[in-house]
This record gives sequence, C-alpha cells and structure tokens, in this order.
Amino acid sequence: MAQSFQLPKTHRVLRLISTEEPLQVQTSPTPQPGPGNAVVKVLAAGVISYSGDVYNGKRRYPFPKPFVPGSTAIGRVVAMGPDATTLTPGQLVLLDCTIRGRDNASAIILSGLVEGHNEASRKLMHGEWRDSTYAEYTKFPLENCIPLNEEHLLGPSSAGGLGYCVEDLIHMGLDDIGLRPGETLIVAPATGQFGRSAVCVALAMGAGRVIAMGRNEIALASLSALDNCVITVKITGDEQADAETLKKLGPADAYFDISPHGAASSTHFQSAIAALKHSGRVSLMGGPRGGVLFPYVDIMRRNLTLKGTWMYTRAQILSFVQLVDSGLLSLGEKGGVTIEGKFKLEQWKEAFEAASVAGPEKTVVIVP
Ligand SMILES: NC(=O)c1ccc[n+]([C@@H]2O[C@H](COP(=O)([O-])OP(=O)(O)OC[C@H]3O[C@@H](n4cnc5c(N)ncnc54)[C@H](OP(=O)(O)O)[C@@H]3O)[C@@H](O)[C@H]2O)c1
Repeated sequence: MAQSFQLPKTHRVLRLISTEEPLQVQTSPTPQPGPGNAVVKVLAAGVISYSGDVYNGKRRYPFPKPFVPGSTAIGRVVAMGPDATTLTPGQLVLLDCTIRGRDNASAIILSGLVEGHNEASRKLMHGEWRDSTYAEYTKFPLENCIPLNEEHLLGPSSAGGLGYCVEDLIHMGLDDIGLRPGETLIVAPATGQFGRSAVCVALAMGAGRVIAMGRNEIALASLSALDNCVITVKITGDEQADAETLKKLGPADAYFDISPHGAASSTHFQSAIAALKHSGRVSLMGGPRGGVLFPYVDIMRRNLTLKGTWMYTRAQILSFVQLVDSGLLSLGEKGGVTIEGKFKLEQWKEAFEAASVAGPEKTVVIVP
C-alpha cells in the first residue's frame, strides 16, 4: 500500500485545557521535525486504567495546562530531524513515554501524564515535550522512538511472522532487579494491568516460578492458567498466615511490587518480604500513598536490597522489544489479552471509562 510521508499543515489533537472542563478535540498546526526528534503518525495509543481520574484532577498529577495528554503508543515515522541516524520515514516505532533530560538524568517526565518532580523535569514538559500521543501526529525525542521489526511482528505466521496487530504491541516490560533464569519471583499485586504484565515478562525471562499474589480469586485463576510455573497465593489480610503460605513454597529470590494508590495498608508487603531468601531483592514500582511500614531490622539482618524504580531505561525497553520479537514473550491474544476497545479522539470519555473497568486481560486504545 502506498504511504504518504508528507506532514499536513494541521492535524487533530485531544487537548486538556483545564481539569475542570471536558477535554476538547481541536485542530492545531502539525509539529515539525528538528534536531533530536522525529514526527510520528500515531496509529494506536494506550489508555491506562486511571486516566479518567488523572485528567479530571481527582488524582492530583502535575502537568502543564493546556496540553495534549497521551501514553505509550505505536506509530509510523513521517519525518525526522537532520541528526537521525537510524530512523527512516515509514519505520514502525514504539513511542516510549518516559522522556529524560539529555543533560540531566534526574529530569524525567511521563509524556502526556506527569511533569515529573523537580524543576528540570517541569522545564521539559512545559516546553519542548508538552504534547503527547492523543493526536494524529506527535513529536518525540529520537531515542524514544523504538524501532520495531514490522515484518516479523505483524507478518502472518505463514510467512514466519508473529501475526500481531498494532494494538497488541502496546504493552510494558518490567525488570529492574536482574531476574535470572530459574529464580523464584513474587509479584504483588499480580491481578492488575502491570502486575499481570510482570508475571508474563518474568515467565518469558525464564523465571523458575512466579508466585502471583492478589485478592481477586477469578483473576488469580486466570494467572495460574498462563503457565505451570505460576503459583497463586491469595492476599487474605492475615500477614502471618500469608507469609507462612509463601514460605512453604520455598524461599523466593525476588519480590516485585506494583501496588496501587490505595494499597498502603495491605498486608502483602510484609508477607512477601518475610518469604524472601537471605540477600533477596525487592523492586518497588507501585504508588501506594501515605507510606508503607517496612520491617527495618529484618531487612538489615537478611541483607535484603530494596530498589525503587520509576519507569524503565531505554536499554530495558530495547531488551523487552527483543523478548517480544524472539517469540519468548507473547502479547495480545496469544498472551491472554484481548483488545477491549478502539476509540477515536472524540470518544475519549468512553475510552477512559472502558479502561477503568477493563481489567488486566483487556487493552483499551485510542486510534487517532
Ligand atoms: N514505577 C513505575 O514506573 C510505574 C509504572 C506504571 C504504573 N505504576 C504504578 O502501578 C500501580 C498499579 O497500576 P495498574 O495499572 O497495574 O493498576 P490496576 O490495573 O488498577 O491494578 C491494581 C492492582 O492492585 C490491587 N489492589 C487494589 N487495591 C488493593 C489493596 N488495598 N490491597 C491489595 N491489592 C490491591 C488490585 O487487585 P484487586 O482486584 O484485588 O482490587 C489490582 O491487582 C499504579 O498505582 C501506578 O502508580 C508505576
């Protein structure tokens, strides 16, 4: 099919003017390429489960106003700045929404979602990287445009391809504690969107066993159906009892936590830490508000390592893409995830509502 790599003068964007009023679809000048960036036609952009609460101000995420919201997306490069050395027009890319200051490692924003937590980060999002992927075209740093092997990923299996569709590729990989093949990993809570992804990535990375913790028994049953290596443990609210159940499964090497906002008082933190082996590792990637009580002395005596991570590095996302390309990590229906809905920019409200109830086995995307 012939493809045009011309940028139109204007394009449609979904703009947030203020959290007090509905988002608006507007016509805007199309972004132009320059040194260090590429302009990409957005094919499908992800919608996270709590988008509605972010953009209506219920979750007090800091971001500039007005701006174009968005998330991780799949798109096609249309034009690049003169210093692009790899990207070419037409290249299918994953747009990594973690934008970093090139001269400051502590400046990090999540494009379309949050302006970060220091002045340097704010400078990035209030200036050059204000607008994100809920638009027909978007401008992204060259290093955030992750090239995808379209022929292999989207090609039919009869031609040796993996047969994915574009929307299947919006997924996230997590590994910040150096998980090694054969190791036992606890994931808690494993029944949410990112928890389930973490279980799948751990399996693809060769984890010996993945212990998936959660409160929802139906979601736990669906996780144990993924693979014989997945063992589920219910979070009952009895810290000691759950710790004993985990310990009976043998000491775990690592624990990946992806707890949401409201889970600070959950008992699973303490149960999972109690079940780790000496020198075990803990990866904290969730967002429980209000702080969590940790067993200080126990952590000290057992030489445990606690590591916090916001998002992921470019190297990690490249190895995630490699995992998918190799066929070790299955996405989309092959990975038990179906596309719940594809929504146009005008249907942003329906998209946010659908994402809020979709659960971890369904993906909601905006297709501008
Ligand atoms: N560090 C990073 O880079 C990064 C990146 C993305 C997301 N996050 C964080 O990850 C968190 C989770 O995101 P998500 O999209 O996976 O959320 P989600 O799909 O809404 O899932 C939330 C999970 O938490 C469980 N849960 C809710 N309340 C709980 C409680 N009181 N006690 C125990 N479990 C509870 C839910 O299980 P039930 O079915 O039992 O309710 C579900 O498994 C977000 O808060 C976000 O801040 C961090």
